[in-house]
Amino acid sequence: MPVAVSHAPASRTWLLRTPATGYVLRVDDDGTPRHVHWGGPLTLEQAEAMPAAGPDVFNGWDGRSPAGEELPIDGGARFGAPSLQVRFADGTRALEWAAVGHTLDEDPDTGASTLRLHFRDRHYPLGITLGYLVRQDSDVIERWTELRNTDDSPDGAAVELLRADSGSWAMPPRDDYRLSHAFGAWAAETQLTRAQLPYGETVLTSRRGTSSHHAQPWAMIDAGDADEQHGQVWSTALAWSGTWRITVQRTSDNHLALTAGAGHDGVQLRLAPGETHTTPRLAGLYSDGGFGATTRAWHAHIRAHVLPHPGETRPVLYNSWEATGFAVTQDGQQRLAAHAAALGVELFVMDDGWFGARRSDRAGLGDWTPHPGAFPDGLQPLVDQVHGLGMQFGLWVEPEMVNPDSDLYRAHPDWVLHHPHRQRTELRRQLVLNLARRDVADWAYGWLTRLVGDHGIDFLKWDMNRPFTEAGWPEQGAAPGAQDRLWIDYTRNYLDVLDRLRADHPGLRVEACSSGGGRVDLAVLARTDQVWISDNTDGSDRLVIQDGYAQVYPVRTMAAWVTDVPNQQSGRAVPLRFRFHSAMSGLLSLGGDLAEWTAAELKEAGGYVAEYKTYRHLVQHGVLHRLRPPQTHALTAVQYTAPDASEAVVFGWLQQPRFGRPQPPLRLAALDPVARYRDRATDTVHHGAVLLERGLDLPLPAGDWSSAVVHLTRI
Ligand code: DGJ
Repeated sequence: MPVAVSHAPASRTWLLRTPATGYVLRVDDDGTPRHVHWGGPLTLEQAEAMPAAGPDVFNGWDGRSPAGEELPIDGGARFGAPSLQVRFADGTRALEWAAVGHTLDEDPDTGASTLRLHFRDRHYPLGITLGYLVRQDSDVIERWTELRNTDDSPDGAAVELLRADSGSWAMPPRDDYRLSHAFGAWAAETQLTRAQLPYGETVLTSRRGTSSHHAQPWAMIDAGDADEQHGQVWSTALAWSGTWRITVQRTSDNHLALTAGAGHDGVQLRLAPGETHTTPRLAGLYSDGGFGATTRAWHAHIRAHVLPHPGETRPVLYNSWEATGFAVTQDGQQRLAAHAAALGVELFVMDDGWFGARRSDRAGLGDWTPHPGAFPDGLQPLVDQVHGLGMQFGLWVEPEMVNPDSDLYRAHPDWVLHHPHRQRTELRRQLVLNLARRDVADWAYGWLTRLVGDHGIDFLKWDMNRPFTEAGWPEQGAAPGAQDRLWIDYTRNYLDVLDRLRADHPGLRVEACSSGGGRVDLAVLARTDQVWISDNTDGSDRLVIQDGYAQVYPVRTMAAWVTDVPNQQSGRAVPLRFRFHSAMSGLLSLGGDLAEWTAAELKEAGGYVAEYKTYRHLVQHGVLHRLRPPQTHALTAVQYTAPDASEAVVFGWLQQPRFGRPQPPLRLAALDPVARYRDRATDTVHHGAVLLERGLDLPLPAGDWSSAVVHLTRI
């Protein structure tokens, strides 16, 4: 393995190497960190020979190209979207780079190399460090920026950070560019879209306080020529669970730069004398294997370096929300638990409605003691019953929220985000607790750790059901940026409470939820075990949502429930088999009112649960190949394969076949061409080469809502 970071001091060139890629940057004579290359591997000699990226055109109107800099600043002849924009105490805004030095840390245990390039402003008290981390087993490069107010004199002044991105990526010049990203809404998250990038600036952002249902904090760029199997793709994902902004700039001379970081437009941070602000990590990945390889590289990276327990197999879960709504009682939950256990469920989760005066969304949120009528003897009898049935016990919580009609709000009306003389906008009849306040974060941590510890709770579903409004923190005063720091501190404290809880209870597992997929990102994935990716449980809509989710995030985290029909969100009555097959391509879970299912439905469901357990190791830990994406084909199909090609499971869904014509065979991927594979259901034997070259005839039943699963094992 070549050294991960090498340096040519004479040309001030740095080469970062990952297993299959190279990244080159250079510090200019004037101290500016310049971008040189992000793509295939290079030697240091080749890297030195490469000119800096992006044409700087000093014709009076153009100036420095954003594609040529590692962190475009607001200062000098720069007219693109700045990654770093500050205002000093005397009102000066233009920054000027001066190089200071570097540090390089090699971690022999993890094989990670961390390069820090240190700079300062030429005149004003600002230290700027660009951080880069590369590993020997991943092509993902992590970047971040550290900003330090170096004036720590007694009468030192604050520096205002108007924009502080984690980094800016540049792609090599191409004739055309395409942007892939996931847009959405509540109950319609993570819909993949791929379109030619217009000239100018394209902004993906969240202003909602969370990473959001509406846009995912990741993006992929290609030259318009990549497909699932081929082509160069540059992608990036931000490890931040609050508001964020990605600005993609396509210059009129066809260069491309992408700057990304925490915070939305208008948020300003105050850097007190002596204070350091470290941005969230921004991960970047280059692949020359098309979108399929890009997805697989993200999955492998997240499993190896982000998820807390990647090797664990997630249990089959039951969740009571769609069955009971807020009408939660001990008896009702026990009945559901008994049905769930009989079907082979391994983790039973009681959802909203178990606490305070919570019988609807009107009251009780914030009062985290069991509802006295519903649980006269507290939670323990139910927890014990569930454990007695051989299942783990999980509980829904929403620690960041309060109903105005609650004891908590009556005691602490100042704990919510608010501005004086402004209304407190209620959404879902609730207000947002200001988790940026240390006392509020400590309160949340305190009751959560007691709840988990006192009752032996195995799993929390941590929900968050509304965006921020009137995001003020009056106690912080009126200094510029003083209150805006809540956008950062809230998110940090949310992540910190999760960290503390997990440290207290190593056996605890957590599901991330924000009305479905309103808060998914690499920071959440580092602290949770699975994600409730959408409140939309329609088996058909889910195929689109799951496809978009799994573009970057591993299937191992993608929870999917089978619920009742007509579906609560879509009104559609998708057949049970299709609903199960849709959910079985993720973390199979059940969410219907099992007490109302017929004996035949329960029997069929039990069969699917048992079947899922025979191949869930492939779904959860295997390698994903999208054989037919839901956007472009009537037939949607995915394949999950063991890394050593010894096994694969193939799912296919055909909602409305046309003209009664058979589907063409499905060419499989990543099998051993010289091996033979047995279909576990029929014992039919297939040659690997035939499955790769000709394909598999999926046993799709005739008619609408047709679906099939084929589990193949190498003989
Ligand atoms: C939104 C979640 O996404 C649902 O699954 C459920 O937990 C409700 N909140 C409960 O209020």
